[in-house]
Amino acid sequence: MTELGQHGGNVLEIALKLGLDAAAIVDFSANINPLGMPPSLKRAIISRLDLAECYPDPLYRRVHERLAAHHRCPASWILAGNGATELIFDLANLLRQKTVLLLTPGFAEYRRALQWMDCRIEDYPLSEADDFRPDRRLLSALRPGLDCLFLCTPNNPTGQLIEPELLLAVARRCRELDIMLVVDEAFMDFIPAGVSLIGSLMRFPRVFVLRSLTKFYAIPGLRLGYVVSSNAEAMAQLRLRRPPWTINAFAALAADVMLDDDDYLQATRRWLGQEQAFLTQGLRAFAQLRVWRPAANYIFFRCRQPGLDLQAALLGPAAVGHGAAGGMGLLIRSCANYPGLNADYYRVAIKGHEDNQRLLAALAQVFPHG
Ligand SMILES: Cc1ncc(COP(=O)(O)O)c(C=O)c1O
Repeated sequence: MTELGQHGGNVLEIALKLGLDAAAIVDFSANINPLGMPPSLKRAIISRLDLAECYPDPLYRRVHERLAAHHRCPASWILAGNGATELIFDLANLLRQKTVLLLTPGFAEYRRALQWMDCRIEDYPLSEADDFRPDRRLLSALRPGLDCLFLCTPNNPTGQLIEPELLLAVARRCRELDIMLVVDEAFMDFIPAGVSLIGSLMRFPRVFVLRSLTKFYAIPGLRLGYVVSSNAEAMAQLRLRRPPWTINAFAALAADVMLDDDDYLQATRRWLGQEQAFLTQGLRAFAQLRVWRPAANYIFFRCRQPGLDLQAALLGPAAVGHGAAGGMGLLIRSCANYPGLNADYYRVAIKGHEDNQRLLAALAQVFPHG
């Protein structure tokens, strides 16, 4: 099943391939807040449909001011985009033909964007023996001649946070060696005590922090992300190279509305506080799974049963070629296509309680002697 696309959330592709009804699939493969988009945003969009009739401000002043207030930094440090993905490609554009170090396993779009810009990519493999967490050995991999390092905390797909002290040591070493450091914090909003590097950017002008609002606020179809950096020159370059109006008017409105929605923030924290523990413990009850402690809204694990395609097993009989559709209909993310992993590794989103129970019940069918 691993050939079915690079990302989670591609329910349509799986459904088409397997002859399943896409609407009947429960998607555990995309890490999206199951509370859905904030009701305050839904109301705001419906009441401002007229915004579609005008061009948005090409400089997105209001969006940048709003995000700057949120992070207590100057608006000039922020550049919003059509999801963090677009900004990954913008950053890669600054790095044409440069040498970049990527940690494996990691989010696929860094590699894709950098390859597109003819960068030389070097891999820094994380190992299961270290729980896929980088440590101080990473510092010695930072050497003169390297142009950029991409990090992701918490990492996707492993869910592991980088120790804040290590992150600062890496930022210092990058500053010494004039290496650009991109730190992807796409899932940081899910972590109540999460330490962002944004607070340290004044000291580290070669650091670029990426943030996504599509996961926490459940708007992957609306799309909004941003990059934060105190590097005036690089930010000017990034702005200069962007096509105008890539953020639609409703996504721009979203920045205005949802960052103030404290009810949504609290509801999300309550849901995740309960369900993260529930699903982790439930998964750990299966001896066939090795489950890593999650930091955010998704859980990474390895299946110890040799040769079992757990993604196919949870989709149901149609997926494993035993006949008609109508199996379990649960889509989990196979991590087989991540460099550094193989078909034994999976990632699941933490969803609402009923769906999480369904996943555990389905696993109990796959592993009856769990
Ligand atoms: C680590 C990481 N960074 C960035 C993104 C891009 O997010 P978006 O473009 O939806 O803002 C994703 C999406 O899955 C991700 O997992």
